[in-house]
Parts: sequence; C-alpha cells; structure tokens
Amino acid sequence: MPSVFIKTYGCQMNERDSEAVAAQLMARGYGVAPDEKQADVVLLNTCSVRDSAEQKALNKMGSLVGQTRKHNPDTLLGFLGCMAQSRGQELMDQLPDVDLVLGTQKFHRVGQYLDDLFAGRREQVVDTEEEKGSESAIREHLPDEGDKSRVVTAFVSIMQGCNQFCTFCIVPYTRGRERCRSIEDIVAECRGLVEGGVKEITLLGQIVNSYGKREIGPKDGQSAFVQLIESVHQIDGLERIRFTSPHPKGYGNDLVEAYARLPKLVENAHLPVQSGSDRMLKLMHRGYTRQRFIRLVGQLRAACPEMGVGTDIIVGFPGETEEDFEETLSLCREVEFDNAFLFKYSQRRDTPAARMPDQLDDLLIEERHSRLMELADGVRARKLQGYVGRKMEILVEGFSRRNADRLEGRTRCNKIVVFEGSERFIGQVMEVQIESATKTTLYGQL
Ligand code: SAH
Ligand code: SF4
Ligand code: F3S
Repeated sequence: MPSVFIKTYGCQMNERDSEAVAAQLMARGYGVAPDEKQADVVLLNTCSVRDSAEQKALNKMGSLVGQTRKHNPDTLLGFLGCMAQSRGQELMDQLPDVDLVLGTQKFHRVGQYLDDLFAGRREQVVDTEEEKGSESAIREHLPDEGDKSRVVTAFVSIMQGCNQFCTFCIVPYTRGRERCRSIEDIVAECRGLVEGGVKEITLLGQIVNSYGKREIGPKDGQSAFVQLIESVHQIDGLERIRFTSPHPKGYGNDLVEAYARLPKLVENAHLPVQSGSDRMLKLMHRGYTRQRFIRLVGQLRAACPEMGVGTDIIVGFPGETEEDFEETLSLCREVEFDNAFLFKYSQRRDTPAARMPDQLDDLLIEERHSRLMELADGVRARKLQGYVGRKMEILVEGFSRRNADRLEGRTRCNKIVVFEGSERFIGQVMEVQIESATKTTLYGQL
C-alpha cells in the first residue's frame, strides 16, 4: 500500500485535523512515510492566518514539485486545510502539478479522493464545498504504536468555524460558520481516548466558550460549554482537562467558577487580548474592552491564584498609533501574562481591516514587535523564576524534546518542566521540586 507524509502548518485545530487524516489513511491500509522523499502521497495541511504561513506552504509545494517528483514521478501532492479552502482552484492554476486541493470541510474525504487519483478515475481534485455534518467527521485518532509519549495527551475538536468576524481575521472565511458536535459524541471520543491511556484532553475550537450556544443552550445556569466540561470531567481515568481558545467576550461566571469546582480542569486560560487599546479593540471588532478583559483576568486569578494566563497580541493593526501601542505595553505590564504570542499584523484579503486606512509601515511594525517582545519575555522569565524552590504537580508527557535522556512534563498552569526519571513515569501525575528556570523552561527533581 502507498505511504503518506503530512506536513502541518498553523494552529492546534490543524494538527488535530492532520492526525485525523493520518488515522483515516492508516485505517485504509496506508503506511506513514518517515519523510517526504519516501512518500507516495505528500499532503500539506495549510494555514492562512498570516501571509508568512501561506508563503511557507507555497514554497514547500514548489520545492516538492521540483524534488520529490524527481525521486518518484508518481507521488501525489495535495493541499489541505485553510489555504486550500480560501484559494481553491487558484492553487491548482498556480501549481498545475498539484493533484489535490481539499478545503476545511473535506478532511474525511481524503482517502476516497486518493483512491480515485491512484486508480486514474480522476486527474485532479479540487473540493472546497460546504458539507453538512463535517464538524463531526474529525474523530479518528492515531493508534499508540509503542511511543508512549504520544498517548498521554490528546486534542479533541468540539466545534468548527467562527462567527465573530474580527476585522483582521481570515478564519471565519476559511473555517466557515460555527458548527458544534453533540456532547454525547464528544464524550464518547474522549472516553475512547482515556481507555487507550490518554490522561489529558484539550478541547479545541476557535471560540470554545461559544460551544453549543444556539444548539444546546444553558441548563441550570450552566452554559453548554460548561455542561460539556462537566460531562468530560466524569470520565474515570482522565486526569486533566484543558481547552483552547476561549474568547474573553463570552467568559461567563459559570466558566470562571468551574475552575474552582472541577479538579480536573487545570488552572490555565489562553485568553487572546489582541490589543490593550479600546480604540483598536473596537476597530478589531473584538467585543470587549480593556477594562472588561482586566476584570476577567482578576476574576480568574481570584478563583484560582495559580491560574496561568496566556494571550495572543497583534502589533501594527491599521491605524495603531504610538499611544495605542503604549496601551498594549501597559496592559502587558499590568496583567503579567505567563505566555504571550506576539504577531505582526498581516493584511488578509477580503477582511475589513485590509481595506482600512493607515496601514502601517513594516519597519514600524517590526520595531513595535521587538519592543513588546522584550517586555513580554522579561515578564515570562520573571514569572518562571518565581517557581524556583517550589513543589509543582506535573503530568509526565514523555521524553524531553531538547534532551532525550530526560523527561518532560507540564504543570497544571501549563509550564514545561524538564527532569530526570524513568520511562515508566510517562503518563503519571507526579510532584517535582523546581530547581532552576531558563527563559522558557523549568528544571526540577522528582
Ligand atoms: N480564535 C482565536 C484565534 C485564532 S487565530 C481567538 O480569537 O481567540 C490565532 C491568532 O492569530 C489570533 O489570536 C491573532 O492574534 C492572530 N491573527 C489572526 N489574524 C491575524 C492577522 N491578520 N495578522 C496577524 N495576526 C493574526
Ligand atoms: Fe478570528 Fe476573531 Fe474568530 Fe478568533 S474570534 S477566529 S480572531 S474571527
Ligand atoms: Fe491557520 Fe486555519 Fe488555524 S487559518 S490558525 S490553520 S484555523
């Protein structure tokens, strides 16, 4: 049977989609190729969120067409995911050697289209149509193949799409409108994972806390998302629940309280703020103010003092003045994020922000980005240093990515801890004494 190599760009949703595609192909008898050169099928699961992500995938495909085809002229090449969705046929026109372009509602159809291509029933496939029920089609996981570290944590997609239409963002166009899976369906998937040895599940969606707003609705004062967390929480053998990303707008009291009430829900919130300036937040169509955001972080830290708070920030949104940017700096000083992903604004076609006046100069964006980076790095390092000398609970995830002789685990508040220990600890919840910290990582001893 043919072998496949999948390269993934973009967010955790994409990683999860790639895993589901790989599992689907393995169930059909495909092998997994160790690299692109030895593969009969190479698939790029693409991201459109910033121009750089698109360029990476386009360059990669360009070189695949040139090189891989030299080794094996019959290799099938395909684009999946967000850029495939937003560009469709255009990709095929630009790179006519590509065989397959499948959008974000078609991941479950990869196997059948590859069969058609191998059998010569089709020459090329472009499919970016909407498909009802596709949000429930991402369910297969890769089996554990002796690599224990793969089986400790798992992602589960609970919904697809986004209705928020932030003015800078392409995601509502690539992923479509919000559609959610049923609680029963998600719980069944989680239960299967836990039976296979998974200890930590991360629930995924573009705005997880708007899960089931329309379809399920609140019950006894609990939003549909909190109902879902409670149902997953009941699974015996599951140690930890995470989710990403929630939107600050819909972070209700029921969700804040859930952290204090549900022990498996770990103390971590990735809360993308995007900007500290109310004027920018409004132009971005984010639906909250700086004050509301700061209040929310305060509520979360009051409910759980150990709460790890992460964020995403965009620098250089159209019209951002020095004053607006300083508001972002001051927000970062005030909130002290444990972890901040900083992005340079990238113009996305068809988004309202791309047509706004005062698009900023690249050099100015670059300069602000490095100023913010310096601040955010300093805060993160200082916060990590604060853990030295403390005992922390970690879930042992596997061998350290940097040093395969050591193990790596994660605290409940999402800090990576590297330590020495035996392979049999993988999958266990243990206590470590933190002994030192670098800018990004904690080091400790069991
Ligand atoms: N659904 C998530 C974000 C998904 S996209 C949320 O709203 O919370 C991940 C991050 O990419 C965003 O939080 C934002 O910071 C960044 N991003 C999105 N569009 C961007 C653009 N046009 N330019 C730069 N960064 C962008
Ligand atoms: Fe994009 Fe905004 Fe939706 Fe997040 S909430 S995916 S930033 S439109
Ligand atoms: Fe990128 Fe699509 Fe995720 S645009 S960030 S891969 S939803």
